[in-house]
Amino acid sequence: MPTLTKKQKQILDFVKVFIKKNGLSPTFEEIGRYTKKTFSTVHEHVEALITKGFLSKINNSSRGIQLIEQSEMVKIPLLGTIAAGQPIEAMQVKEVIAVAKNLLPRQGSFFALKVAGDSMIDENINDGDYVIIKQQSNAENGQKVVALIDNNEATLKKIYKEKNRVRLQPANKNLTPFIFNSSRVAVQGIVIDVIKNPTSHTNITFKEEKQVTSTDRAIYKFEDLKNILGKPYFETANCLIYNMDCINAMQKIKNSVIDLTVTSPPYNIGKEYESTIPVNEYVNWCKQWMNEIYRITNESGAFWLNLGYLEFPEKAKALPITYLLWDKSPFYLVQEVIWNYGAGVAAKKFLSPRNEKLLWYTKNPENYLFNLDDIRDKNVKYPNQKKNGKLRCNPLGKNPSDVWQIPKVTSGENRSSKERTEHPAQFPEALINRIILAASNKNDVVLDPFLGSGTTAITALKNERKMIGFEISENYCKIAKQRILALLESQKQNKLI
Ligand SMILES: C[S@@+](CC[C@H](N)C(=O)[O-])C[C@H]1O[C@@H](n2cnc3c(N)ncnc32)[C@H](O)[C@@H]1O
Repeated sequence: MPTLTKKQKQILDFVKVFIKKNGLSPTFEEIGRYTKKTFSTVHEHVEALITKGFLSKINNSSRGIQLIEQSEMVKIPLLGTIAAGQPIEAMQVKEVIAVAKNLLPRQGSFFALKVAGDSMIDENINDGDYVIIKQQSNAENGQKVVALIDNNEATLKKIYKEKNRVRLQPANKNLTPFIFNSSRVAVQGIVIDVIKNPTSHTNITFKEEKQVTSTDRAIYKFEDLKNILGKPYFETANCLIYNMDCINAMQKIKNSVIDLTVTSPPYNIGKEYESTIPVNEYVNWCKQWMNEIYRITNESGAFWLNLGYLEFPEKAKALPITYLLWDKSPFYLVQEVIWNYGAGVAAKKFLSPRNEKLLWYTKNPENYLFNLDDIRDKNVKYPNQKKNGKLRCNPLGKNPSDVWQIPKVTSGENRSSKERTEHPAQFPEALINRIILAASNKNDVVLDPFLGSGTTAITALKNERKMIGFEISENYCKIAKQRILALLESQKQNKLI
């Protein structure tokens, strides 16, 4: 929706009030009397309002002005004032404003900022105006952007990329441009419109924090992750995959932004994606990534770690890796879950291994999410059994306990699982599904730093979570990408049906 000048807004408001009060529209003379403008100036403003789609006119009728119903309004967060000092993501959302839906592109997430200062006056963006921003991390030369400098200071400028530098150009001939090394500047969004007379929007602001949904917050977090980590190997609206070493990647992420991490690292047992190292070195490496996960997990977030066994030379044939790692990060251990499966290697000199462990950690021992009802086991033997007239069992099912019997992803002729990819250590979706349902909510950000074939991503997306994954092998990234594309295609087909 186009924006209005102060005078046009005044005339439009007058026409609205007049029609409401009198049941018919005002003449040009009546508008002129109210606005103290000549007939020709009123005519000019009314024509502008017609061109901008706010009014229409029936020819040859002195009361022929008609209001055009404005489009549906949508609420977007007003994140504050665009002034030096802090990144947009860190600004507390205090208000939302209503803008016409047709003002916004169909895709994307949007927010508004109040402009402070005169650095953009040559683009008719003045002190006190609101700018509407579409969140994105890329911009064309000459676009007006919200740029974050050194991950700290946000500014509204025109952007020009020059070799390995970025010029942030004020639209004010009296001001000089700022020039930075490209690595110091991250685009947070581009300006898509300006609200010139924001006081008219204050009657549609909502000063309640609760107006900002968890979806909004998740979108900001996700966009910010994208800004910080740079171009992903593959992305969809709700998923970012990076072909990167996970420690390097996590070191870039701010504190407390991830809601849930679900992962299985290499076990140091000589699989095709790892080279075996001494156990103490392995433990030290695990400490590094576990501590990074702890740092980036939010205060009520969780970490589910799947671990198997390794051989400890001269000490243990099949040592549960949990024994080595369970207390090597500041996380609080809620409990260990045994994952029991049928298929596996047949041992001759010891018992055939048929389980792995899942360590369920939280950052806070008291405050963590556990959606028990979402994972209840419906398979109840006596669902109708009563005691003192009351059902003994929860009608939603029973607590699934700390032993989970879920088939492994198997390979081999005639016994290969349907979901199997070329990855040699793929999670079964059912296992991760239970964790994601129990330990996260819709729109939460889920991380898998050892993404492998992308099972966590598939499961997170199916459950409407946001997903971020790191994987060091490009080949596995490719497998994950193909799985996600296939999922999106099948979701699209299902919608069509
Ligand atoms: C046990 S597998 C994970 C399999 C995954 N859960 C799945 O469902 O396919 C471990 C993965 O970590 C990857 N990896 C190893 N070192 C890594 C690192 N430093 N950063 C990121 N990924 C790494 C390996 O390539 C391997 O795909």
